[in-house]
Amino acid sequence: MIEYRNLRIAILGGGSVGAQVVSLLLEHGDELAARAGAGLELVGVAVRDVNARRDVDIPRHLITTDAESLILGADIVVELIGGIEPARSWILLALNSGADVVTANKAVMANHGPELFEAAEQVGAQLYYEAAVGGAIPIIRPLRDSLAGDRVKRILGIVNGTTNYILDRMDVHGDELQDALAEATRLGYAEADPTADIEGFDAAQKAAILASLAFHTAVPLDAVHREGITGVTREQVQAARRAGYVVKLLAICERFTDSTTGIEGVCARVHPALVPLDHPLAAVHGANNAVFVEAEAAGDLMFYGAGAGGVETASAVLGDLVSAARRHVAGGPGVAESNQSNLPVLPMASVMTRYQFTLSVVDEPGVLATIATLFADQGVSVEAVSQSVGSARSGSAPPNLTATLVIVTHQATESALASTVTALAASPVVSHIVSTLRVEGL
Ligand code: HSE
Repeated sequence: MIEYRNLRIAILGGGSVGAQVVSLLLEHGDELAARAGAGLELVGVAVRDVNARRDVDIPRHLITTDAESLILGADIVVELIGGIEPARSWILLALNSGADVVTANKAVMANHGPELFEAAEQVGAQLYYEAAVGGAIPIIRPLRDSLAGDRVKRILGIVNGTTNYILDRMDVHGDELQDALAEATRLGYAEADPTADIEGFDAAQKAAILASLAFHTAVPLDAVHREGITGVTREQVQAARRAGYVVKLLAICERFTDSTTGIEGVCARVHPALVPLDHPLAAVHGANNAVFVEAEAAGDLMFYGAGAGGVETASAVLGDLVSAARRHVAGGPGVAESNQSNLPVLPMASVMTRYQFTLSVVDEPGVLATIATLFADQGVSVEAVSQSVGSARSGSAPPNLTATLVIVTHQATESALASTVTALAASPVVSHIVSTLRVEGL
């Protein structure tokens, strides 16, 4: 028996997620109300274009273009329009008027999180954003609540479905990157302009959100090191599989002590990486997402599922909506942003990682020794070397053979590994550097 008054729910945005949230809320409203302990009354859906075609119909009487009036009459505002503005202003308007806010907006959370949390705290409102990272996958609440008693050491995330789909096709079907991207576009995973996905901007926003939450430290988006997948070739992906790896675009958030300064801090980075085939992340196929969390006490955890999609993301949004409604019923200020660790954000150069170098070298006596010395000079320790002999170079008498060397290093700082790349590029025994890829998850 629900005794609390009906809570007025306003939804901003009637796109694929918004329309699904409306549909599920209307269909399962009584069940959700019973879980929340309060009636959930959908008072309106603010859209830009009343007549836009939608996958799921929204009842006409709920639709309005007057978002601001809708916000000011709501107890809980669900923001599903995406992008920075007007989303940021409307979230602030809602929070300042005392409404709780549920958002799926990674861009606004990654760019303006501290400002929004501050506004929420001022009035004792709550900001929920489970759907901003990993779509349907519960990861925000596990990091915020379930792991609040632990210390997260590292997160390795596949948080962009489009790039995972592309890299997976290159691996499983042997596609070139452009062909896999065309297929991702045809299937609706990639936008008409895929830059945000393939250049790693989308994953970087999610990395900033995860790192801030996991390490109780504000990690600004511009501190996230970002590399996309456009430089990854089919040959690299196929060579990776032969060597026992798969190439994934990873969002990596780490807490570590800088080996030079002794300062403990955090770092967030997004780049393609080789992941060993026996790592759980190697089994994440298609457009799925997964977040692998290494915690001091809990050990390794993995959260896996659909990282996008209207109805899947609506699940996370509705979970937040029920949580927000429960808080209204229970009263109290809710959970504030947790940034009390306030650790410094360390530069990418301090990160410890491993590289796999693939080098084309002259196959002559002493070449391996020269290269080994070059690595030693940079303070980089070699873990494994394999060599295959290539074709004879034409025009030489007697012909000089080239060899392909694949060298995997032990852990070293990013700066030492970057210096090694520079030294290899300048070395007369290296014909060219075929590829360098970081190795993660060992
Ligand atoms: N464009 C994102 C992806 C989905 O491909 O995973 C929304 O975050």
